Amino acid sequence: MQSQKKMRRFGQLFAGLGLGLAFFALGGADDEKPKFTVKEVMEKAHKGKTSLAKKATDGKATKEDLAQLLEYYQAMALQKPEKGDLGDWKKRNDALVLSTQEMIDGKKAGLAAYKKAVDCKACHTLHKGD
Ligand code: HEC
Repeated sequence: MQSQKKMRRFGQLFAGLGLGLAFFALGGADDEKPKFTVKEVMEKAHKGKTSLAKKATDGKATKEDLAQLLEYYQAMALQKPEKGDLGDWKKRNDALVLSTQEMIDGKKAGLAAYKKAVDCKACHTLHKGD
């Protein structure tokens, strides 16, 4: 019967989807390595006129944008910079993570703190190699 065949196809599709999700979850549980390199974070979160960072500083980021941004910063915070003082690097990363979390939580102070923390030039001068 035609419709029964269709049902079976659906079943297979969902089984496949479930398996895919299981693999995805397993992959996500591996937190030994940061999910994104610093370079990837820069490209995905900071680079360009329509970046997540730009949206956030304009106060236009959605909760999803901010959650994504937080994930990038958390990955960045696990790593070392190309150069410069590790204490300073840690402070800058902590400030990014904290202020992003504050924006997610709807705290007013978050935006101003974030604008201060996401200082491209200051961080590049100290921590970006050439
Ligand atoms: C907390 C420190 C920090 C802040 C803040 C920061 N950056 Fe970076 N950025 C770095 C470091 C470190 C690198 C070098 C990464 C590498 O190549 O491994 C880098 C590299 C880059 C790169 C080059 C990526 C590539 O392809 O090699 C771009 C583009 C960039 N940053 C854009 C920005 C912009 C735009 C901002 C501000 C909105 C910003 N960054 C804020 C630390 C920072």
